[in-house]
Amino acid sequence: MRRLIGLGVLALSVAVASSALASGEDIFKSKCLPCHGAAGAGTAMAPAFKGNAFIKTGSDDDISKVIAGGRAGAAKKYKEFALDMPPAPLTPQEISDVVHYLKGLAAQ
Ligand code: HEC
Repeated sequence: MRRLIGLGVLALSVAVASSALASGEDIFKSKCLPCHGAAGAGTAMAPAFKGNAFIKTGSDDDISKVIAGGRAGAAKKYKEFALDMPPAPLTPQEISDVVHYLKGLAAQ
């Protein structure tokens, strides 16, 4: 019986983890992909996330701040992209989900 409960908890936590991933991916596809490209490959408008050192090594907090607040003007890091990073109107949970998804893309 105890074993069964353990399995149930395991199945539940796997389900929660994968739903967080799906929602990060959904947010990315609907709100970030037009600039950052399919699977975060980058476009002429915005940098790639694949192999991106800031995404790989940055803290969740630092990455979340860029997503929530955007990056423009003197704060811009990439002079080769004319556009600014616009502040994303997302909830803290959505930002956390999308950061998790970006970390996965960066590691590829
Ligand atoms: C209108 C185009 C556009 C959209 C839409 C957009 N971004 Fe960006 N993003 C940019 C640009 C341009 C930069 C580079 C800013 C700079 O020069 O520092 C950037 C930078 C970033 C960075 C910092 C990358 C680095 O290497 O420092 C993160 C993280 C990021 N975007 C996440 C997101 C997420 C998540 C979304 C969707 C919720 C999103 N962006 C939507 C244009 C966009």
